[in-house]
Amino acid sequence: MGALTVDELVGRDEWEAVNQEHGRPFVVYKFAATLDGRIAAEDGTSQWITSAESRAEVHLLRAGCHATVVGSGTQQTDNPNLAVRGNDDPRLDLSIVSNPERQPWRVVIDSDAATPADANVCNDAAPTLIVVADDSDASHLEGVVDVLRVKRADRGLDLDAALQGLYARDIKAIFLEGGPTLAGSFIAQGLVDRVVNYVAPALLGSGKSGLDGAGIHSMSEILRLELVDVSRSGPDVRLVARPVR
Ligand SMILES: NC(=O)c1ccc[n+]([C@@H]2O[C@H](COP(=O)([O-])OP(=O)(O)OC[C@H]3O[C@@H](n4cnc5c(N)ncnc54)[C@H](OP(=O)(O)O)[C@@H]3O)[C@@H](O)[C@H]2O)c1
Repeated sequence: MGALTVDELVGRDEWEAVNQEHGRPFVVYKFAATLDGRIAAEDGTSQWITSAESRAEVHLLRAGCHATVVGSGTQQTDNPNLAVRGNDDPRLDLSIVSNPERQPWRVVIDSDAATPADANVCNDAAPTLIVVADDSDASHLEGVVDVLRVKRADRGLDLDAALQGLYARDIKAIFLEGGPTLAGSFIAQGLVDRVVNYVAPALLGSGKSGLDGAGIHSMSEILRLELVDVSRSGPDVRLVARPVR
């Protein structure tokens, strides 16, 4: 895993400052892209852009945060499990894998409670929180997973309220795994503290890119990142960066 530890990769020494200053969890945005910046093919499939080595490392990084978060688009397209699962890496604490109580939360940001009760994310591998709009019908999820109700915003849900709800559950850092629409809102609202980007030496030529609707329309608004680390991850490249604010 290159030279950095899991704690260094997820910026653990920066969590407290963000927690104290903003009263919200530290946000690590991770995405896997091709050289031309695509995170999915034109048909929406994205499994798998990066190598088995990179995907195994992602389980370590999930385990290094307190919650893994995706948008409802990713839930519907990929039906991900999001739990930390076993791999051969001796650095993964296997007691996390086998004990749902030690797993990070799995969180879906899902305005209309479109996540079905039999979605993979609702299985008993780890605790699950579905964040829904306060006017949505989430009755099918009651008793299956935890449900957090927040206000709607111009686009989807009020992310500040969602993050406060996570923070109230003692979640000090989240591992945001996309997709690009949700990540775009996080970036637009200045809510991303660290970016971990796995780049596969591959091309797709069409399909979604890492961010959609980040509120950046001109070069004068470009969000510059400071590079923290660049490393090989199997056949891929891993970049770690933080926004320059
Ligand atoms: N390569 C990778 O690293 C990677 C990772 C993840 C996903 N993917 C791919 O990305 C694609 C899915 O991405 P996506 O952009 O369609 O979906 P997404 O970002 O996962 O989810 C977007 C949805 O989240 C909900 N949402 C709730 N509050 C929001 C807010 N404040 N801002 C933005 N969205 C909010 C909205 O739907 P509602 O309001 O209806 O809930 C919105 O349409 C799939 O093809 C998947 O395979 C790739």
